[in-house]
Amino acid sequence: MNKIVYSATLAFLAATAAAPALAQGQINIICSAQAEGCNMMGTVYTRITGVKVNMSLKGSGEALAQLMAEKENPKTDLWYGGTGDPHMQAAELGLSTEYKSAMLPQLYPWAQQQAQQSGYKTVGIYSGPLGFGYNTELVAKKKLSIPKTWADLLKPEYKGDIQVANPASSGTAYTMIATLVQLMGEDKAFDYLKGLHKNISQYTRTGVGPIKAVARGETAVSISFVHDAPGEKMQGFPVETMTPTEGTGAEIGSMSLVKGARNLEAAKKFYDWALTPAAQELAVAAKQFQLPSNKSTKLDERMPDFKKIKFINYDYAKYGASAERRRLIARWEKEVNSLPR
Ligand code: F6P
Repeated sequence: MNKIVYSATLAFLAATAAAPALAQGQINIICSAQAEGCNMMGTVYTRITGVKVNMSLKGSGEALAQLMAEKENPKTDLWYGGTGDPHMQAAELGLSTEYKSAMLPQLYPWAQQQAQQSGYKTVGIYSGPLGFGYNTELVAKKKLSIPKTWADLLKPEYKGDIQVANPASSGTAYTMIATLVQLMGEDKAFDYLKGLHKNISQYTRTGVGPIKAVARGETAVSISFVHDAPGEKMQGFPVETMTPTEGTGAEIGSMSLVKGARNLEAAKKFYDWALTPAAQELAVAAKQFQLPSNKSTKLDERMPDFKKIKFINYDYAKYGASAERRRLIARWEKEVNSLPR
């Protein structure tokens, strides 16, 4: 389901299934970033190395579920992108393998910390702040105010006009829950989520769904990573973002090598390459504007300016812990998603 595998790659897999010597020449990647970024990475890597990349696209929560299902017989070699919390969970559950890339010292402290806190079973590849997206034309037409705070989103004027993803499938939505819990305390955060539920028109499967809906005028407001807006704007859509004045969380988009990977050595080479400035600079060409983790990667002015945003001190170890993530998502399903709107 929702798995994009290039047919040429399928043909290659079929042709080489019985030839282990050739298995070095391919990598199976689950990618939880946007399709344009994933495909760009795969295509360029194949062009410069000759290694075939089989790319499958899945939201962060769905990717974790797939790795759990494959645990006894992994078909995936590397998990690229997606929010850091489920990567931390994968590390704890023994789904990913320890690897200290020689590239680590070149990374910002937040990316190295992600590696240290997971016992070097994952690493930060990018970061980005959580905020709101809004359609400037729709907001004006419906005479809505521009949301500036978390509290604003509870106003009845937004009823049926806010989209956010479902935290079971989307890391973006889980980042929202963890952010609110850290900002308000858990019970107050769940009261808030119940109030927000009344204004939500749809919980989407992936985290980028809501900002795409905003861009296309299908909803006025989204809760989204703000780095996902410039790519929509570049296509001419009237979309702007805001980060809540009370404070917000940021993701540490991560990358993990799968434990028991069949193409481990090939996957390690991709992993090292993905941490280089050359690879990370491909993101902008694919209209992706997260802050890259290598200190030497060129920045783009469309990337969010972290200095202008009020951040909470997000506890990545705590909210990436398996029991905590499972518990919070189950509580959201039971106490929020089950309510009528
Ligand atoms: O640009 C795509 C993105 O926002 C990434 O920054 C993030 O890691 C990913 O989507 C999360 O996707 P999802 O919420 O679907 O797991």
